[in-house]
Amino acid sequence: MCGIVGYVGSRRAVDVLLQGLRRLEYRGYDSAGIALLTGDAIDVVKSSGKLENVEHLIDGSREKLAASTCGIGHTRWATHGKPTTQNAHPHRTGHVVLVHNGIIENYQDIRRRLVARGHKPESETDSELFGFLVLEEMDKGRSLCDAVRAGFLQIEGSCSVVVMSEKEPGMIVGVRNGSPLVAAHDPDGGMFIASDAQPLVEYTKEVIFLENGDLVAGSRTGLKISSLADGNVIARPVTRIDWSAERMDKQGWPHYMLKEIYEQPAALSETLNGILDRATGEPFVLADQKGLQTLKNATRISLVACGSSWHAALLGKYWLERWGRIAVDVELASEFRYRDPVLQEGTVIVGISQSGETADTLAVMREAKTRGIQTAAITNVRGSTISREADSVFYTCAGPEIGVAATKTFLSQLLVQLIWAGWLGKTRGALNPARTASLFDELIRLPHLLEDYMRPDGVMAQTVRSTAKALLGIKGFFFIGRGYSFPVALEGALKLKEIAYIHAEGYAAGELKHGPIAMIDGNMAVVVLAPQDSWREKTVSNLEEVKARGARIVGVGGGNDSSLKELCDFWIPLPVSTKHKIDEGLLPVVLAPVVQLLSYETALLKGTDVDKPRNLAKSVTVE
Ligand code: F6R
Repeated sequence: MCGIVGYVGSRRAVDVLLQGLRRLEYRGYDSAGIALLTGDAIDVVKSSGKLENVEHLIDGSREKLAASTCGIGHTRWATHGKPTTQNAHPHRTGHVVLVHNGIIENYQDIRRRLVARGHKPESETDSELFGFLVLEEMDKGRSLCDAVRAGFLQIEGSCSVVVMSEKEPGMIVGVRNGSPLVAAHDPDGGMFIASDAQPLVEYTKEVIFLENGDLVAGSRTGLKISSLADGNVIARPVTRIDWSAERMDKQGWPHYMLKEIYEQPAALSETLNGILDRATGEPFVLADQKGLQTLKNATRISLVACGSSWHAALLGKYWLERWGRIAVDVELASEFRYRDPVLQEGTVIVGISQSGETADTLAVMREAKTRGIQTAAITNVRGSTISREADSVFYTCAGPEIGVAATKTFLSQLLVQLIWAGWLGKTRGALNPARTASLFDELIRLPHLLEDYMRPDGVMAQTVRSTAKALLGIKGFFFIGRGYSFPVALEGALKLKEIAYIHAEGYAAGELKHGPIAMIDGNMAVVVLAPQDSWREKTVSNLEEVKARGARIVGVGGGNDSSLKELCDFWIPLPVSTKHKIDEGLLPVVLAPVVQLLSYETALLKGTDVDKPRNLAKSVTVE
């Protein structure tokens, strides 16, 4: 989704903006631009395509621009109008220059009125129109701040803007009304503003998450927040962010996605540290107590999510029902919100979202609240909209995930739900305390198990790499599994589609014969997830069915499962076996990295843009 960075202070603005936009690249974009104040004039440099295009454009005038200490920048992910240079932000309208995230819903109406008043919008965007509104208000004698307020009150929709004007050099005004905005004081004097905290953390750890309806005005002397509606000054709390800038770099890995796959053992330990008291084995001592009561009192849980988070929720259902003995529904947010569902008292709606900004998930939670239903969230981003709007929130502590494809956040979402399930089981009397304790002990050992298994030069990595190479050029993939392996099969197929652009389907192994088996021939690969669990024999029968029809079989199974290995063309052993067992419910945690890595290696061979796959964005803030 679109990214915003703005700065005014004493630093070199061109560097702050470009570096900030680089930090936001992970969100997905298709054009970029910056606007810099030099003297009393604002220069706008923008281009379709990647940020490097903007950097090339400014090469000739770097010296002049280097003097600037005030500017705004943007990465655009096209919604209204094609991803062209003209439609890229910042937009200039006379002396007003702005960037905008989100959608102005009444833009057609506003365009009609502006054109009738003699204005000539140049781009196809809704964003540019806002500049005319500010211009008109400033022409009436209003300050930039008052003009932005008056202009914003004329638009409808969920969006944020950041605006400058040559008539008030050194002033930046932002409004949040939907799309997130974060502001911060520059410790050296001045203000930063951005669509998320990542561009700010290398300058300051103290940030302010603006609320909807906040207007922020910043200059060299600092920033002031006021109400969009009435102009009254508002004091917002400062949040301390513990993500270091260094942690956000690739640290030598070729791609963020690979780094994040290998960071999974650490993400699990950090998430465990945030939830489980190692000394007592009691969960949630460090986490949200209110959320705990909400879960304890629930009669039914509805897990609501999209994409990978939805796959995590599918696994949550298995665990919460098996151990927690509570009825669980799993819902796709984009379907649930329009279905007029029956929501009974006692139901808790849990939104699972790594970004905490997904529009569909957020909409379901808002709807639930209006119906008096309790909401909880599992998210990785502190200060995200979902985390602030849910009645209670449980954080995964995976650290920043920059690769668009979810990996370590997915695994961390699994862990939170596993702990919920164990704790609910104990609390509701379905699991005896000793069983819960042994489950938690296993969870504590999981990061170590995974760390051993996931060495870049280890057997798993090598067999995955050689399998990807051998299957390059195959027509399509099926990922199949039963029980706990089924949601992992769905996740494997999604990963392959999104980063390698190869058609792949995830199926419950038993469903193949009800249709999809017609697709199977010698040009199809079937990844069979068949660990030594209760479903192994049945899954192997399904393997035989596709093998008989010529499919190339990739087996992922128990380390000592030689009879399964013999049936497979390619074999990826798990670190668990009949000798080294873990509870079968925990197998997804070791299976998921295998399918993630298989997708990564395939994408690498195909030469796709692994971290920023085409057409995708890291946080999907539109419906
Ligand atoms: C897949 C992926 C997406 C997200 C989905 C939901 O790798 O990243 O499918 O899982 O867009 O996003 P969140 O979890 O931010 O709500």
